[in-house]
Amino acid sequence: MTKLATDPAAGRAHSPRHVNEQSVPGGVGRQRQAEIYLGGALGQKTSIPAGQSLLEERARQVMTEQCLAYVAGGAGLESTIAANRAAFEGWRIRPRMLRDVSARDTSVELFSRRLESPFLLAPIGVLELAHRQADLAVARAAASQRTPMIFSNQASVAMEDCAPAMGDAPRWFQLYWSTSDELVASLVSRAERCGCDAIVVTLDTTLFGWRPRDLDLAFLPFVAGKGIAQYTSDPVFNSLLDQAESSPAASSRISLAAVRSLIALSRRYPGSFWSNLVSRRPRAAVRLFLDIYSRPSLTWADLSFLRAKTKLPIVLKGILDPEDARIALDNGVDGIVVSNHGGRQVDGAIASIDALPAVVAAVGDRVPILLDSGIRGGADAFKALALGARAVLIGRPYVYGLALAGEQGVREVIRNFRAELDLTIGLAGCRSVGEVDGARLAKAP
Ligand code: FNR
Repeated sequence: MTKLATDPAAGRAHSPRHVNEQSVPGGVGRQRQAEIYLGGALGQKTSIPAGQSLLEERARQVMTEQCLAYVAGGAGLESTIAANRAAFEGWRIRPRMLRDVSARDTSVELFSRRLESPFLLAPIGVLELAHRQADLAVARAAASQRTPMIFSNQASVAMEDCAPAMGDAPRWFQLYWSTSDELVASLVSRAERCGCDAIVVTLDTTLFGWRPRDLDLAFLPFVAGKGIAQYTSDPVFNSLLDQAESSPAASSRISLAAVRSLIALSRRYPGSFWSNLVSRRPRAAVRLFLDIYSRPSLTWADLSFLRAKTKLPIVLKGILDPEDARIALDNGVDGIVVSNHGGRQVDGAIASIDALPAVVAAVGDRVPILLDSGIRGGADAFKALALGARAVLIGRPYVYGLALAGEQGVREVIRNFRAELDLTIGLAGCRSVGEVDGARLAKAP
């Protein structure tokens, strides 16, 4: 459906490998270590660094200025990004000894599916900035690890092109609630047809946060037609576009930069380059997207509309206040993602791991609670699980893996996170995720 997906490498048949690492003696952690160390003896190295700082540093070197600003940047002074990390540092793990941790079970149950590990890939938009194969590379990597990918509403590749690359591996869909309810309904029914297990409604982005790095480059990817593939592939969006196109066009100044943008947009937009260049459609699509992508007037009462449209579990992403968590339960939601959007929305917002305990206290075990924002390895996941999260979302680190080594890079990031969590669980004296609880944590002095 998208041009990216017609890339010969991107389009080839690919059956996801199901590496059932649970059955490997010693667990996924030891298996990954053995592979890396034994490979080293043969002169082989992994395609991405195992350490997060080096991963990020190397990725920065290969990303364009615009990509780096968009991916690494945050709101305002980026104090929320810093707080997310500082808050993880505020918790220390207190290991127990001599408890026979030779067999470890890192699996968790989420919406009637048993996942081999408590990781999902966070919805991240505009992945074409990081790699040509974008969401498709991520879908394949996620499927090979049976790690759910949450398709972003701002994806670079339509969900219908990613889903077939995933076999029966789990995937969810993240929704930005448009001003058009008809478009919301259409996106949700497409997600159902694509085999998604849940709908994640992101609540914290009804307006774009104030992001100085993007502002200083005057760069918003959507304006360049990037990250709007879920819209340009949508029948409701296209019929709205037909109506918009029949109204008179706004005249715009012709400059060299404007012509360059038009050429880039025409290349990227579905259909032939030449017809895109002469038609107004690609530019009209960008304008329409900017008009309808999100609805700041959204309230709790609107959730009933979504409930009536789908039987899939509804998960709210962006909850930071326990009172909101309680209201979410009253409105019948099925799950919560405690998140501050990786510090991209409200500068100075509470770190998500700091917000977690109160949300857990408010919700109890009535619905699963997930967490993202600042997860940089298996030990962070351990801390979140100990504080009551059922699972965590990996965000920026997989984008860095994607930028460095495409599908393989994402796969290695997932495997490294899983390996570190498995080893941390064992080294902390636990045999399963169920044994990871608050008693294994201490506040840093
Ligand atoms: C995001 N995030 C995001 N969230 C969402 O619901 N829909 C989206 O399209 C995007 N897009 C997006 C783009 C980029 C470049 C980033 C970095 C993040 C937020 C994402 O799902 C998650 O909440 C954060 O990435 C978590 O923070 P860390 O761990 O990546 O710092």
